[in-house]
Order: sequence, then structure tokens, then C-alpha cells
Amino acid sequence: MTATFAPRIFSGIQPSGGLTLGNYLGALKRFVEKQDEGIETIYCLVDMHAITVWQDPEKLRQQTREGAAAFIAAGIDPARSILFNQSQVSGHAELGWIFNCVARMGWMSRMTQWKDKAGKNAEAQSLGLFAYPSLMAADIMLYHATMVPVGEDQKQHLELTRDIAIKFNNDFGVDFFPVVEPLIEGVATRVMSLRDGTKKMSKSDPSDQSRINLTDDADTIAQKIRKAKTDPEPLPGHLEGLKDRPEARNLVNIYAALSGQPAAAVVAEFAGAQFGAFKPKLADLAVAKLSPITTEMNRLMKDPAEIDRILGQGADRAAAIAEPILERTFQITGMIRSRRRG
Ligand code: TYM
Repeated sequence: MTATFAPRIFSGIQPSGGLTLGNYLGALKRFVEKQDEGIETIYCLVDMHAITVWQDPEKLRQQTREGAAAFIAAGIDPARSILFNQSQVSGHAELGWIFNCVARMGWMSRMTQWKDKAGKNAEAQSLGLFAYPSLMAADIMLYHATMVPVGEDQKQHLELTRDIAIKFNNDFGVDFFPVVEPLIEGVATRVMSLRDGTKKMSKSDPSDQSRINLTDDADTIAQKIRKAKTDPEPLPGHLEGLKDRPEARNLVNIYAALSGQPAAAVVAEFAGAQFGAFKPKLADLAVAKLSPITTEMNRLMKDPAEIDRILGQGADRAAAIAEPILERTFQITGMIRSRRRG
């Protein structure tokens, strides 16, 4: 018998730095779309994932609040979606531990993000960084979430989440955890660096010129786009003409995602244009879409107590969903649960 699970979306963002245009187009913007489609949505600032590499405590708190402000400014309504920070719901750590005992070392060591982050210096990394994907599986399974909107870079982690759920179900002879479906959709599943079209735009890139931050003002956004690396050719009339032109393709994709059009429509509109003409249009569009979000973020950040209140309420609602799932997990795994609660 295969259990059926109600559609439920979970996704998370690390508050390990300011959010970028990549996070916005690949994740946040799509989180809002899912909320507006009326699906149950749970969104989390994964502060416990963030500390798998060193974080200054005060900055981490600030970045978590800023992340929450970005969610709300982008259109997440805390009354309709659940919005909280991971460490306030202890079930993430508890289920994460159980999954550490289900997942295999070999699975973890094959994760490309582990290999990229650890590099040749695996011995010096935290144990948490190695186990990162198992905590991520716990984030999702703690709510029996069935769908996870993410950017392309998280695909392998979601495959591992499926493997952990399947192994748990097999090991204990149950049909308890759902096999999750990754939602990697749209033209902006992998926004690239503005300095190098073969590298992902990332909040941890040492060069600030490589990314647009959600906190950048209009002048900074325009200046970064003006300076973005391109090639000397004009824009082609068809998508095939962007092959082997990663920087050009990236700017076209960003334009498409921001304007809500397919990339083919963008190249058709700008066929034959030089970047000198295309870049100012892209800058205007980016400023028009991002400025209202930045302004709203700045307004929300003036009242940190209110942000903390929203996160606390979200955590209460998240914990209420997690509790029975975690209790059942402990029972399945053979733990005695005899304490009086509540
Ligand atoms: P993080 O914090 O690196 O990124 C958050 C989301 O943004 C997407 N993203 C991008 N999309 C397109 N282009 C880019 N350049 C780009 N950069 C980032 C990511 O794919 C992600 O969707 N491990 C996760 C956080 C996490 C999580 C989870 C996600 C923890 N638990 C459970 C989903 C479900 C991460 O590091 O995302």
C-alpha cells in the first residue's frame, strides 16, 4: 500500500549572507507564486545550516531578520505561509539525528556541494558541513512536505532526501515518509555570476561585483549590470545563437525571469542589439522590480521586534505540524516516549 500525502511545500534559504538576485529569481519569487496558487507553504530561514561554516553570532541574527524581511517584502504573507527560523523548532535537529543514522557516509561524500566547499581540506571542515544534506532532508520530512521549490544547485540534495526517505521506509517496513518532488522550474533556476558566466551567482563569492544583492540601491544595480562581463557580439535573434555565450545567455535569462517572458521572446525583441543598448534596458527592469522590495525590506528592518514576533508565531505553527510526525518517527525507531507533555 502506498500512503497518499496532502500537497505541502517546504523550502529554505540560508541566512549566511545577504540574499542575491539568484536567490530571488531561483527561489523567493517562486515561493510567492506557490503561496499565491493556494498550496500550503512552509518557508524557513535555515540558521542551523548556516553555522556549518563559521558565522559571527550578531551578524547571523541580523541576516536572519534581513532574510525574513526579504521574504515578506517579496510577497510572502506570514498569515498564509508559515515563515520561521529553523532553530526555533527543535524537531529539525532531532529528526536530523535520526537521518544521520539512516544516511550512509558514502552518500554524503558524493555530494558535489560538500566536495566544492570542503575542497582538498575535508579534515578541517565541521562535522555539520558533512551531514548538511541529512539535516536538509529532515527539514523537509519533518512536515511530510511533498514538493520543494529550489534552484538547480539543490537538485542532488533533493535526490538524497528521496534516498533517505526510501531507506527509512524500507529499514523499518513502513510507508511513512513521502518521496519528495523537486520543483526546479523556469528560466532562472541557475543565475550566473556577472563576472563569469560559468559560475553560479552566490552570496559567498568574494567579489561583490559578481552579484546583485537585494539590498543594493538603484545606482549600484545599474553600475553592476553596466560592468557585467559580456562578449563583443550583438544579441542573436534565436536562442541557439546564445550557445557557448554563457554571459550573454545569463543576461537574457535574467531579463526573461524579471519580465516574466520566455527567453525566446527576449532574444526576438532584442535581435541584433549591442550590449550597450541592452544593458540599460536590463538595468531599468531590474531596478523597477527590485527597488520596491529593497524599500520594503528597509522599512521592515526598522522594527526587528516585529520580525522576531512573526518568526516566533511561524515557529509555533510549524512545531504544531511537526510534533505528531516526530512522535511517530520516534515510535517507529523504537524510542520510549513516556514523558507527560504540555
Ligand atoms: P541557499 O541558501 O544556498 O539558496 C536558497 C535558494 O536559492 C537558490 N539559489 C539560486 N537559484 C538560482 N540561481 C542562483 N545563482 C542561486 N543561488 C541560490 C537555491 O537553489 C535555493 O533554492 N541547502 C539550501 C537551503 C536548505 C533547503 C532546505 C532548501 C536547507 N534546507 C530544505 C530546500 C529545502 C541552500 O543552501 O540554499
